[in-house]
Amino acid sequence: MKNKILVTGGAGYIGSHTCIALHQAGYDIVVYDNLSNSSREAVNRVSSLIGQPIEFIEGDIRDAESLRQVFAEHQFFGVIHFAGLKAVGESVAQPLKYYDNNVSGTITLLEVMAEYDVKNLVFSSSATVYGDPERLPIDENSPRSCTNPYGQSKLTVEHILEDLAVSDESWNLIPLRYFNPVGAHPSGQIGEDPNDIPNNLMPYISQVAVGKLEKLSIFGNDYSTVDGTGVRDFIHVTDLAQGHVAALSYLEQQAVPVGFLPINLGTGKGTSVLELVTAFSEVSGEDIPYQFADRRAGDIASCYASADKAKDLLKWQAELSITEMCQDTWRWQSMNPNGYNAT
Ligand code: NAD
Ligand code: WQD
Repeated sequence: MKNKILVTGGAGYIGSHTCIALHQAGYDIVVYDNLSNSSREAVNRVSSLIGQPIEFIEGDIRDAESLRQVFAEHQFFGVIHFAGLKAVGESVAQPLKYYDNNVSGTITLLEVMAEYDVKNLVFSSSATVYGDPERLPIDENSPRSCTNPYGQSKLTVEHILEDLAVSDESWNLIPLRYFNPVGAHPSGQIGEDPNDIPNNLMPYISQVAVGKLEKLSIFGNDYSTVDGTGVRDFIHVTDLAQGHVAALSYLEQQAVPVGFLPINLGTGKGTSVLELVTAFSEVSGEDIPYQFADRRAGDIASCYASADKAKDLLKWQAELSITEMCQDTWRWQSMNPNGYNAT
């Protein structure tokens, strides 16, 4: 029998796709989520896609007692830790909420893991920890710096994990630094379901395409990039999900602890905002009206990964193209115009 994994934040966008990949790879999973940014319906749909009920616990990672109950009941090989808040703008307005949830919550989780001697962790970090990169593509040794509380919370957790690995060599701590996750499960049953008006580009584009939003504002057309618009490393969420399976499988194969081992999950390719808009329009057959607007505060011109470390160590690389990212987003958006809240 395969190992059992605790998936915090497993009801969310990336977590729900990863649950499917973990199940397909033969892992037993327990999802722990407070549903602060997700719905029970996502868990139900994952259950129906995998053809069996998912063990779901509604709980908060800041609640040590609740976590202890879960660890006492199950023997986990490790934890994949997605639970966190992720809205950059909200983090500027409410920094304490972000530090409490993302940093204090992770400390509580690590304490309970230590109590139960579960020392394998895969953590959702972000390319945001690289700030404005000095060089491209961005490799894992690039300097780290952040300009907003959300990014700072991810970087702080990384520092905590580094210190923890020094203090006790039995830990295996892999922060996966995601670039720009987009796309949805090819079934169209699960996908990204933002509250309110999306902050991120792909959900904004898809809501314009489906007619929920009138027009996209493209933030800046004077960057020194291929067409003046920002360039990002978009990665399909199902590729990202497979990256987590590869990280776990890597940990299972190690004879000695790996300590703190950060790894980028990106495609290694940059795509501009305008290129993504054009690809989405072609795939969906819909017009995507847009206007150019001022640069968004805090944005950088270009950001894409060196994906070599993931390939060398994890034997993983992203497979899916921008076209497939747009197709799967469009399927999810057009089948679920109101996300999980069907009305
Ligand atoms: P998401 O909001 O869809 O998923 C996060 C899940 O965590 C949600 O289901 C939410 O209810 C849960 N959660 C939040 N706080 C919790 C708490 N205190 N206790 C229990 N559950 C809690 O976000 P996502 O896009 O799936 O992101 C997953 C992780 O990856 C996050 O940590 C995020 O910061 C990180 N990340 C996301 C992106 C991205 O662009 N989506 C990029 C880089 C990193
Ligand atoms: C991409 C490009 C925008 C919206 C953010 C977080 C990062 C990570 C991923 C969690 C930029 C442009 C966007 C719009 C636009 N999340 N854009 N019009 O900023 O690269 O990264 O999500 O860790 O931390 O900062 O992603 O999708 O917001 O923007 O022109 O309405 O699209 O200016 O060039 P970003 P994004």
